Amino acid sequence: MRSRRSLALSNKTKYATARAPIGVFDSGVGGLTVASGIEGLLPQETLIYFGDTEHLPYGDKSRHAIRSYIANISTFLADRGCKLIVVACNSASSVLDDELLQHMALPVVNVIDPVVESVVKNKDLRRIGVIGTRRTVRSEAYSAKIKAARPDVELLEKATPLLASVIEEGFYDGEVARLVLSKYLDGMDRMDALILGCTHYPLLKNTIREIVGDDVLLIDAPDVVATSVKSTLIQMDLVSDQREDHQFFVSDLTENFQEMARLFFGSSIALTEHSLSEH
Ligand code: DGL
Repeated sequence: MRSRRSLALSNKTKYATARAPIGVFDSGVGGLTVASGIEGLLPQETLIYFGDTEHLPYGDKSRHAIRSYIANISTFLADRGCKLIVVACNSASSVLDDELLQHMALPVVNVIDPVVESVVKNKDLRRIGVIGTRRTVRSEAYSAKIKAARPDVELLEKATPLLASVIEEGFYDGEVARLVLSKYLDGMDRMDALILGCTHYPLLKNTIREIVGDDVLLIDAPDVVATSVKSTLIQMDLVSDQREDHQFFVSDLTENFQEMARLFFGSSIALTEHSLSEH
């Protein structure tokens, strides 16, 4: 007998083909870290990326607002023939529920569950820090899921709301990032691991490493999410054998987005401004 999950997947992918693109979205440049992880592991897959720069930072928006952005972006990606949606944003992943997932009409991989699954397996981790946006920390998505599987774990969660904007403004390296991070990480001591609970934060990894030292395991989304995308595609029998050009859309074109997208995916990328708001 087929499981509920595989039945649900097959209902959502009845008409999809293996060469169809994977839709990936975030509020801005953060999801590029995840997209790049997917490209690294699955080089034959075509990506359609949507950066909702018009509405960033998501982390300070209401649940209701973020849910409506997700619904619109999902429709946009489904209309472009995507076979799977990767919610490459923790703030958006933290507001997903069954009702919204059903509405999304395509299989979905979020960025929180794969990270939690990999963390709870590591029995050496006893004291774990989580940094993320206000929305993600307030949702308690990480703490509730980790605690449920590992009641022995001590969690230190902190909202670090300025960081995504600092990165969107291009200050992901250097003094500004160091100063803001030092303030936020002050008091988060004796951690075995620190979860970078926002897809923007891998861009700050070097600076975070300098501040917390070498003994803290830094855990972020790109590799584990790419692995989860791969196993979902295998399960759906939709692994591509041929790639086309990736496409990048942003709801408000910024210089930093352009620069970052080129840094990750090369200078000749197709980048289009496309607002989903009704004006
Ligand atoms: N990259 C996002 C996240 O993982 C969103 C940051 C923001 O827009 O606040 O939460």
